[in-house]
Amino acid sequence: MTAETHRWWFGDDDDATTTTSYAREDTQNVVDDPVREISRVVDPGQTRRIGNGGTAQSRSAILHSLASIESWAMLLAWDAIQRFGVARNMPKEFYDDFVELAADEGRHFALLSRRLDECGVVRFGELEAHDGLWRTAKETAHSLEARLAVEHCVHEARGLDVLPQTIGKFRRNGDEASATLLETVIYPEEITHCASGLRWFKYLHAREVDGGDVGEETEESGVVKAFHEIVREYFHGALKPPFNDEARAKAGFTPVWYEPLATKVHAQ
Ligand SMILES: [Fe+2]
Ligand SMILES: [Fe+2]
Repeated sequence: MTAETHRWWFGDDDDATTTTSYAREDTQNVVDDPVREISRVVDPGQTRRIGNGGTAQSRSAILHSLASIESWAMLLAWDAIQRFGVARNMPKEFYDDFVELAADEGRHFALLSRRLDECGVVRFGELEAHDGLWRTAKETAHSLEARLAVEHCVHEARGLDVLPQTIGKFRRNGDEASATLLETVIYPEEITHCASGLRWFKYLHAREVDGGDVGEETEESGVVKAFHEIVREYFHGALKPPFNDEARAKAGFTPVWYEPLATKVHAQ
């Protein structure tokens, strides 16, 4: 359905590209708890250790965990469109980015599930998975700024930090197919998702706070400061270094955005 909607949105249908009909009708019907195919959903931090990829079981557990994250990420992209598109009077380009993002995540999920089937250890849904991304989605359901900052600029950027090690786990253990999938499809596309999050966070700040001006991004600048405040409010804990500076830079983040968040600030 995600792929079909993507084709419809970017196709020749004039009705789709006006941005309004789909989103406006569905704004009142946002689903708070989507149905998942997972046998057992657990609290974040309660998942069993998935290991270092040294066994077929461990590699499948990693693929299963990644596939679960991708399916949440796809739902999150649609949720952002439905929940915030009309409510925040977002321009057509916002819809373009998030329809693209949903299609990417849906494809990532399908590719990882297929890879899981090829490995033959478990099928998607047979292992437990956590719902951390959706918990954050609920906590940020009232604020597009918080949603963009936490889901796309923190969680997805964290994905960029750890993906190279995950690719290494597959490659070191002889699973070149999974390594290649992560390296050539998922990794570069995840960079574009972080970039979209940052793009729309800056857009909103410029529109609503700076009167349309996109200012210079120094540590003291308003947009970076606003980002830090929102992340400290909605993300529980400090960001975890080391950071993948190269991938983060490709997404548009200079270290002023994330390095100060590696230290937890306690309330006075
Ligand atoms: Fe993805
Ligand atoms: Fe993503």
